[in-house]
Amino acid sequence: MNRFEPNLRIPGPTSLPDAVREAGARQMVNHRGPEFAILQNRIVDRLKAAFKTQNDVLILTAAGTGGLEAAIVNFLSPGDKVLSVTIGAFGDRFAKIATTYGAEVTKVASEWGKAADTVKVREALEAGGGWKAVLLTQNETSTAVTNPIAELAAIVKAAAPDALIIVDAISGLGAVPFETDAWDLDVVVSGSQKAWMVAPGLCFVSVSPRAWQAAAVAKMPRFYFDLAAHKTSAESGQTPWTPAVAVMFQLDVALDLIEQETLPEIWKRHAAVGAAVRAGLTTLGFKLLADPAYASDAVTGAWVPEGIEWKTFNGKLRKLGLVVAGGQGALKGKIFRIGHLGHVTVPAILNAIAVLEQTMIELDQPVQPGAAVAAAQVAALKSLQLAK
Ligand SMILES: Cc1ncc(COP(=O)(O)O)c(C=O)c1O
Repeated sequence: MNRFEPNLRIPGPTSLPDAVREAGARQMVNHRGPEFAILQNRIVDRLKAAFKTQNDVLILTAAGTGGLEAAIVNFLSPGDKVLSVTIGAFGDRFAKIATTYGAEVTKVASEWGKAADTVKVREALEAGGGWKAVLLTQNETSTAVTNPIAELAAIVKAAAPDALIIVDAISGLGAVPFETDAWDLDVVVSGSQKAWMVAPGLCFVSVSPRAWQAAAVAKMPRFYFDLAAHKTSAESGQTPWTPAVAVMFQLDVALDLIEQETLPEIWKRHAAVGAAVRAGLTTLGFKLLADPAYASDAVTGAWVPEGIEWKTFNGKLRKLGLVVAGGQGALKGKIFRIGHLGHVTVPAILNAIAVLEQTMIELDQPVQPGAAVAAAQVAALKSLQLAK
């Protein structure tokens, strides 16, 4: 962030570290040549470390939604029974993809702002047999809620041991603790433009041996997203189709930064910025959307105060250099979302809170100058165990 650039605080695409931006400007290489193979292999090894998995991790040139589509069409057949655990717009999208390809989808939905209801999930699984897959969202970006994936996965294992566990971890992996193998997750999808601090264009899909067995008999049509073709190509350091080479260059550098910082420190940083945003917004009088027990450390959603138009509010924020996201679906115009994932620091978040504070003062709201910034900083320091 510098004074000529806005403070981009949307939940993806996230702002890029300078070294990552510069990497995207490199000269191309032959994507069928040895340089690319070395690059891809180096990236895959480090993606596996970040996914915490020994499973295959495949890199697709596509938006996150492409990764979700791959996670459906490779492992299922039309008519297969799928339980979709949805807590917002992206969970609904995942279910829609499965329905589009002919799966028989049953939804267990939560009120927006709440995490998945573990009791309802267990009941739904036990109410019928023959489940082929359960679809989960790790971090529901539309509602700023992080699901208890370990707990949900354990419920699926107990109630429907044959069902594949397929997780949309697009906006949370790399920001908050996540364990692909320890939680026994079969397919996990993430996206480059989120916590990975890389431009949009790539998504990553991990595939367990059990999921590969399912893929061998799965009948849904697939071509571009045929993961078996991707696996075969990856064995010789290639991709079946031309990859987003510039984004791969960026990812390579971003993974250096992630390795240097280490995952536990990255998770701590996200916990601190999450706590800071929630404390700052609450001090400003905003009501938060998410159930506090499951509030995301990657994104925060808050209601636009009554009597204030979203467009007016957002216009003022933009004028002061802060770019936030609006609401999705039924929450359009009603909430705003602050992304705090990837290349984010406590000072950058304090800047965002200061802009919100100034905006609320300009809008004649009863706000004490400096109080929200102070509350945010104290929350961050407490989270980092640095508060006196
Ligand atoms: C949880 C989640 N799932 C899926 C998507 C879709 O990703 P994309 O927009 O890259 O297709 C997003 C994007 O914001 C997301 O946050």
